[in-house]
Amino acid sequence: MPHYQQPLDVTTLSSWEALRQHREVMQSFRMREAFQNDPQRFDEFSLSSSGLFLDYSKNLLTQETRSLLMRLAREAGLERAIHALFEGEAVNASEGRPALHTALRRPIGDRLVVDGENLIPQVHRVLNQMTELVGRIHDGLWRGYSEKPITDVVNIGIGGSFLGPQLVSEALLPFAQHGVRCHYLANIDGSEFHELTARLNAETTLFIVSSKSFGTLETLKNAQAARTWYLAQGGTESELHRHFIAVSSNIAAAVAFGIRQENIFPMWDWVGGRYSLWSAIGLPTALAIGMANFKDLLSGAYAMDCHFRREPFENNMPVLLAMLGVWYGNFWGAQSHAILPYDHYLRNITQHLQQLDMESNGKSVRQNGSPVSCETGPVIWGGVGCNGQHAYHQLLHQGTLLIPADFIVPVVSHNPVADHHQWLYANCLSQSQALMLGKTREEAEAELRARGMSEEQVQRLAPHKVIPGNRPSNTLVMERVSPHRLGALVALYEHKVFAQSIIWGINAFDQWGVELGKELGKNVYQRLTGHDESPAEDASTQGLIGYFRGRHRG
Ligand code: F6P
Repeated sequence: MPHYQQPLDVTTLSSWEALRQHREVMQSFRMREAFQNDPQRFDEFSLSSSGLFLDYSKNLLTQETRSLLMRLAREAGLERAIHALFEGEAVNASEGRPALHTALRRPIGDRLVVDGENLIPQVHRVLNQMTELVGRIHDGLWRGYSEKPITDVVNIGIGGSFLGPQLVSEALLPFAQHGVRCHYLANIDGSEFHELTARLNAETTLFIVSSKSFGTLETLKNAQAARTWYLAQGGTESELHRHFIAVSSNIAAAVAFGIRQENIFPMWDWVGGRYSLWSAIGLPTALAIGMANFKDLLSGAYAMDCHFRREPFENNMPVLLAMLGVWYGNFWGAQSHAILPYDHYLRNITQHLQQLDMESNGKSVRQNGSPVSCETGPVIWGGVGCNGQHAYHQLLHQGTLLIPADFIVPVVSHNPVADHHQWLYANCLSQSQALMLGKTREEAEAELRARGMSEEQVQRLAPHKVIPGNRPSNTLVMERVSPHRLGALVALYEHKVFAQSIIWGINAFDQWGVELGKELGKNVYQRLTGHDESPAEDASTQGLIGYFRGRHRG
């Protein structure tokens, strides 16, 4: 397998220096004026692809900014890196493997040969295996230990084995089929387990243990608890195979847990956890929405893949979003990025993108192990609009931080209620407009005077009413949320994150940072439970262990 060669430190590139100088010039740039001076600005800075429309005109950019950013992308070797990603080169250098989530959405008949093997037939074999299972469950042919059909499916998994499938099954609820209810059990918190199982009937419940590694503590503990619960409810060991299946790349561990080999859906080490919703990890999604809709989801992602691969950077949605993020993070000091979906069904997208972005680009060494010389991934946060408007948007409008935001909104609602959707859409647009326009001192004063206030009152209140404006945002619009458009949307962000990782020279596909917490967790557990009486490494942890043990003594 060819090894992907990392280019030079990005901060040494001539385009980096050109952007640094351009940033100085842009200090006085005002979006308000840019819109007034250029009636074509919206057309100039917007584009469509794969069922998505992106308006990025409300950004601190000119045509020159865009061409400098695209020059940076080219000098940083992004074209070559995209080729490496899709062709299965070892873009994940620390683990010596490719990242081939894009292979999961390639149509049958395509060829992708890695290490002498065409991967596409394997992918479609698993899709067929999924189709068969989904069909048997939907048709009532897969039955529980008392011969009743399955009514509830519980996905036991965490991180990428939870957030992606949960996003998709909830976002596509209007496409739900056959009345199979999907539930997610992720955390090790017993309360989550208790609240969920209290609503379930063991006779008609199927558990999917979703774990790429089959070694994740939370998942294995929950799987054990589910098995104990199933047996306590009247299930038997001999019928366990009717109630427990698995998705994993660690077949041996799943078999050791007691899952029948034929009930294990394979995945591959070349699919990263946070990129796995397209694989058999998407099984709960497929059970919720049916295989035809699941395949539409894949086709949407595939459409975005083709766009990312082929479009020139100036017209390439993931590249544009990525480079705007680089612009703000590396040249304007932005440290976070808000994701604001104006759609109830998309309310979980922020959490999914948080893992996708922060676990991928939360790195401070480059692929070759040298320290980065610039900021890397931002904090991703946000939540569903309009709720955020009555909570944290205040900081977006008047806080001291620059926080770029992505607004995501469908034009058509699945559930029109009176004029609610018009109001929802209006709110979304007016937020990005308010961020961009702001309110000047003169406007604030004029407004107060028009309300008949005394000059003394006007001067006292005006500073509080000033809104700086000139705050950047992107708006992504789609028709109605559909499997195809959702697939394109998620793939758009996957590629954005990848493109940024290439600019920064980091590995988007490993996550060594989470390992230390896991290791220390085991040590703390030993001390909490008295299996290790040696003191903890620090007094704070030791004190808190003592607090716990004091409460649980005897
Ligand atoms: O701990 C982080 C992580 O490794 C994520 O990257 C991953 O999505 C999650 O744990 C779950 O991993 P697995 O699917 O192997 O249980």
